[in-house]
Amino acid sequence: MSRLDEVRGRLRRIGQDHVLQHEDELSDAQIHAFVDQLASLDLESIPRWVEEYVRKRPASGAPADLSPALAYPRDPRSPGDPSRAWAREDALRRGEDLVRSGRVAVFTVAGGQGSRLGFDGPKGVYPAGAVTGKPLFACIAEWIIAARRRYGAPIPWLVMTSPLNHKDTVAFFEAHGHCGLPKDDVIFFQQGVMPSFDAHTGRLLLARKGEVATNPDGHGGSLRALHASGALAELKRRGVEHISYTQIDNPLVRAVDPVFIGLHAGAPDSSGEMSSKMVPKTHPGEKVGVFCRAGGRTMVIEYSDMPEALSKATNADGSLRFNAGSIAVHVIGRAFIERLNQGDFALPFHRADKQIPHVDLNSGEVVQPAAPNGVKLEAFVFDAIPLCRSSIVLETDRVEEFAPIKNAEGADSPKSCREIQTERAARWLEGAGVKVARRADGLADCVLEISPLTAMWAEDLRGRPGLPARIEPGQKLAL
Ligand code: UD1
Repeated sequence: MSRLDEVRGRLRRIGQDHVLQHEDELSDAQIHAFVDQLASLDLESIPRWVEEYVRKRPASGAPADLSPALAYPRDPRSPGDPSRAWAREDALRRGEDLVRSGRVAVFTVAGGQGSRLGFDGPKGVYPAGAVTGKPLFACIAEWIIAARRRYGAPIPWLVMTSPLNHKDTVAFFEAHGHCGLPKDDVIFFQQGVMPSFDAHTGRLLLARKGEVATNPDGHGGSLRALHASGALAELKRRGVEHISYTQIDNPLVRAVDPVFIGLHAGAPDSSGEMSSKMVPKTHPGEKVGVFCRAGGRTMVIEYSDMPEALSKATNADGSLRFNAGSIAVHVIGRAFIERLNQGDFALPFHRADKQIPHVDLNSGEVVQPAAPNGVKLEAFVFDAIPLCRSSIVLETDRVEEFAPIKNAEGADSPKSCREIQTERAARWLEGAGVKVARRADGLADCVLEISPLTAMWAEDLRGRPGLPARIEPGQKLAL
C-alpha cells in the first residue's frame, strides 16, 4: 500500500478524508509533502479532540473549591502566614551553588509571533530596550551573559520556536553572533503543531489544497517537545538539573535568579518540580493568570477562565482575595519533565475561536472569514503545576522584573515597558546616590535603561565609579 493510501485509510476511519478532496490537482511533490504533514499529525486523537473541545465547549477551567494560593512573600521578614517564613540568604546561597556548578539552564518560549503588536516576525526580534531599542532576545541574552560571568559557569539557553518562526529566529541569531553567547550554548528546538478545526462541523481546515491548517500547540507543548527534540537529554548530558523558564515578551525578566532557584530547590514544601513567581495584581481585570489552590493542588487559572465574581472578591481589608498574578516565570526540574514524558501525560487543551483563512470545500478558493469560523487548541505550560507533588510560589516586585510587551498600545505595550524600565533604573540610580529628575506626579522625567551587563540588581550599582551625579529632565541614558 502506498503512503498516500495508508493515510487515506486513516483519514476515512476518523471521518476526515475531505482533506484529500483536491488530490487530483496536486503535483507529486505536493502530494508527497501533504502526506508527510498528515502522517506527522496525531490523526487518531482527532475524534476525541473534536468531541471534547469543538463540539462541546469545555466548561470554565475554574474548579468549584477554589481558594487563593499562599506565596512566599517578597520580604522574608514579614511572612504574614507563619508557614511562609523563609531565609533569603539560604535560598541565595543554594541557588548560587547550583548556578556555579552548571546545574541551571535558561529556557525561553518564543514560538509566538508578534501579531498583537502588529509586528511581522519572531517576537524576540522586537525592539525592547527603552533607549537602545535592543531586541527582546538580546535583553535575555545579556542577562545570561552577566550570570555566566558572575558565576563562572556555562548556562545553556534553550529557545523554543515554532514552524511559524523557526527559520527567521535561527537566521536572527546567526546574523547577530548568537547575541554574544557561544553558539553551542544556544539550543533551538521547535514546538509541535495542532490542526485547526471548523467550529461548526469539527472538520479539519485546509490552509491550501495540499496542507491542513495548523497552529503552534501552545507553550504547554514545550514539555513534550523538550523531550522529543533531544534537548532534555542534552541538558542531562551537561549536568543541568533545573530549568529557568521565561517568556520572550519580558525584557526585565531575571532569566537566572539564584534566590528563586534556591527556594525552588530547597524550600521544605517544594518538590523541586515546578515553582512560580507572582506579583500582586493591579486590578481585578488585569490579564494575568492567578495562582490558586483546589483539591490540595496549586494551579494557575487563566484570566479568561477566572469567574468575574472571584476576580473581584476582596478580603476584609479591601485587598483582592485572588491576588497572585502569574508573570509566567517558573523554575522546572529536569527530572519532572522526564517523569512526565515517561508516562502517558497530556495537558488539557484550551480552545480559542479565531478567524482562520481556509480552502472553501465547494469553490476550492481560499477564503478570509470576516468572523471567527475556526477553533485552535493550545496547551498551557502552567497546567503542569497540579501534576507536581507540591509546588511553591514566590512573590516578586513588578517594577523589578515584569514589563511585558504584548499589545501595541495601553497596558503591556512598548510604552508601558519603557516606563517600567525607566522606573526600575531610576530607583536603582537613586539608591546609588544619583539625583533623578522626576515630574510633579512622581514619575521619572527621563528615559533610562540599565543593561544586566552593567547591573543585574540594584546592589550592583552601589559604589560603582563613573555614575552621573544627576539625570536631567528629558535625558535619555543607557548604562
Ligand atoms: C501569558 C499567560 C498568563 C500570564 C501572562 C504574563 C498564557 C496562556 N497566559 O499571557 O497567565 O499571566 O503571560 O505575562 O500563557 N508561546 C509559544 N508557543 C505558543 C504560544 C505561545 O512559545 O504556541 C509563547 C509566546 O511566544 C510568549 C508566551 O508563550 O512568549 C505567552 O503567550 P501568550 O499567548 O502571548 O500569553 P499571554 O496572553 O501573554
